[in-house]
Amino acid sequence: MVLRIGHRGACGYAPENTLLSFEKALELKVDFIELDVQVCKTKEVVVIHDTKVDRTTNGKGYVAEKTFAQLKKMDAGKGQRIPLLEEVLDLVNKAAKVNIEIKGEQAAKPVFDIIKRYVKEENWDWDDFLISSFNHYELLEFNSFCAPVKIGAIIAGIPIGYAQCAVQLNAYSLHPSKEFINQALVDDAHKSGLKVFAYTLNEKTDIEKIKKLGVDGIFSNFPDRI
Ligand code: G3P
Ligand code: MG
Repeated sequence: MVLRIGHRGACGYAPENTLLSFEKALELKVDFIELDVQVCKTKEVVVIHDTKVDRTTNGKGYVAEKTFAQLKKMDAGKGQRIPLLEEVLDLVNKAAKVNIEIKGEQAAKPVFDIIKRYVKEENWDWDDFLISSFNHYELLEFNSFCAPVKIGAIIAGIPIGYAQCAVQLNAYSLHPSKEFINQALVDDAHKSGLKVFAYTLNEKTDIEKIKKLGVDGIFSNFPDRI
């Protein structure tokens, strides 16, 4: 079975990376919820995709330059707020696994601290998490904490050596974009013992095409289409 990964929740149905979107993803019974995190000025780990708040909220400016109190006041769509990573974990409450995509730099350690706390105090399993990033140096740093957490290397192209970058990171999975995925890449990843999770597929015809390559999981804004 191909794993169904709700992209930014189920952002085809609700404002991306909001509690409403994560609720919708849970309702659709996703295997994984994907969300994007960054650290704001006051060091909380907040769930938002862009470096600036402009596209997804009624505010303006860089996330890294805003306090959490400022971010909390912004409307992220349909009256939703920018959530803290902890708020999303509390909502999910182990009903799905969580793929935390590290967007900003300096986020690996604070994300690790939160995961550790949820494992030690909230009865979560290390296995309930998958940490991914386009920034493979953040993943390398995450590895240095020696936690038994799965790592996913995101790529947006076909690198020389195919899945080699993920192997080097001792990753669990490779996350290629739909624009660049091909059979050679999928086969090389599988040969190297990696899972392949492709992003972001929203059209049914595209989803069927990608499934034929033998991928193990698909990110979608409409996870019920997978
Ligand atoms: O993690 C898969 C996908 O979310 C990566 O791209 O830009 O949607 O975060 P983006
Ligand atoms: Mg993402």
